Amino acid sequence: MKYFGILFIFLFSTNCYAQKFDGLALTPPMGWNTYNTFAGKFDEKIIRDMADLIVSTGMKDAGYQYIIIDDNWTGTRDSLGFLTVDQGRFPSGLKALSDYIHSKGLKLGLYSDAGYTTCGGFTGSRGHEFQDAIMLARLGCDYLKYDWCNTDGINAAGAYTTMRDAIHAAGRPMVFSMCEWGNSKPWVWAAPVGHLWRTTGDITACWDCIDTHGGAYNSYGVMQIFDMQDGLRTYAGPGHWNDPDMLEVGNGNLTMNESRAHFSLWAMLAAPLIAGNDLRKMPKDILTLLTNKEVIAIDQDSLGIQGFRQNRIDSVDVWYKPLKSGDWAVCFFNRGSKLAELNYDWNGQVIHDALANLDLRFDKQTYTLHDCWAQKDIGCTDMVLHTKIPSHDVFLLRLKNK
Ligand code: GLA
Repeated sequence: MKYFGILFIFLFSTNCYAQKFDGLALTPPMGWNTYNTFAGKFDEKIIRDMADLIVSTGMKDAGYQYIIIDDNWTGTRDSLGFLTVDQGRFPSGLKALSDYIHSKGLKLGLYSDAGYTTCGGFTGSRGHEFQDAIMLARLGCDYLKYDWCNTDGINAAGAYTTMRDAIHAAGRPMVFSMCEWGNSKPWVWAAPVGHLWRTTGDITACWDCIDTHGGAYNSYGVMQIFDMQDGLRTYAGPGHWNDPDMLEVGNGNLTMNESRAHFSLWAMLAAPLIAGNDLRKMPKDILTLLTNKEVIAIDQDSLGIQGFRQNRIDSVDVWYKPLKSGDWAVCFFNRGSKLAELNYDWNGQVIHDALANLDLRFDKQTYTLHDCWAQKDIGCTDMVLHTKIPSHDVFLLRLKNK
């Protein structure tokens, strides 16, 4: 007994019992990130503008809170090994920018990489993990995206655990966003390490395409990324999410229907909602889409259960997601290239979610059908649903239990 006591004191007094910060990302993180629009072409003015716009457009009120500065911000290291910041881009310094972001009631996200250099060729954290975590903490960082370029075959679980421990030792709670593209199946091991983990390579702003970047690496369209989420739902939950990458809503050549479907599907997946469009040029209909509170509520539901495909009827996938209140979200997603006509008889359905251990019994209970895009009640589950769904679009419902 005496020896157990000594072991206990040893574990806690030496801080070798490091862990990730609990109580963060209890719902999927929401924010805005530089990469999808700006890649490396940003400076402090652009980021201030984005922070201003997140507030003035109402995106902050809708739940977007992290302003994430992705790759290309790290400078060289000083003589003591601390990271410097490019003065040309950040003439006021990163701490002033961080203070500005916080003064708006927003949170700061920063990026680094487990290799010596980042994907963009800037300074990475390898060998300086604890030092970088201290610097991030001093800067007031609330969210670290940690990438996986130039890692020379090192072990992913080991490298991410080292950074997790470094953040913990630095003492400032930060959401830890792991970005190793699903290579080592992080969903299997990473729940005690990070708060979210990328499941795939990068998304690109197209509906259905693969960009091979001249053979260097692949980026994937919305459909490719979505289909790669198959089989992962059991691994997600409050504080540990599958991350199918950032939103391309309002980017590239996605149509409005496709942007709406993309956003709805990410909500059904309980995915992080990290916008990446140029907020200075955002059309009204894209803002309306990104701030639809009913769709966001499906994503942010505190039960934290990722949706599942229950059926495929011709070109229409039928997805269900149980919600905390006893409601369910149902998404009819027309993958096809033609308008789909749907006649859906609720009473014929048997819905069992083994993960949530919940059943939907339409023979025992009638639900009100609420159209989350039109934002109105449209009927009940005791009638056959007749609707038409345009190509690459969704019909997204909340089934209300009272
Ligand atoms: C990788 C990541 C992207 C982005 C870029 C930055 O490709 O997967 O999300 O961070 O690096 O260079």
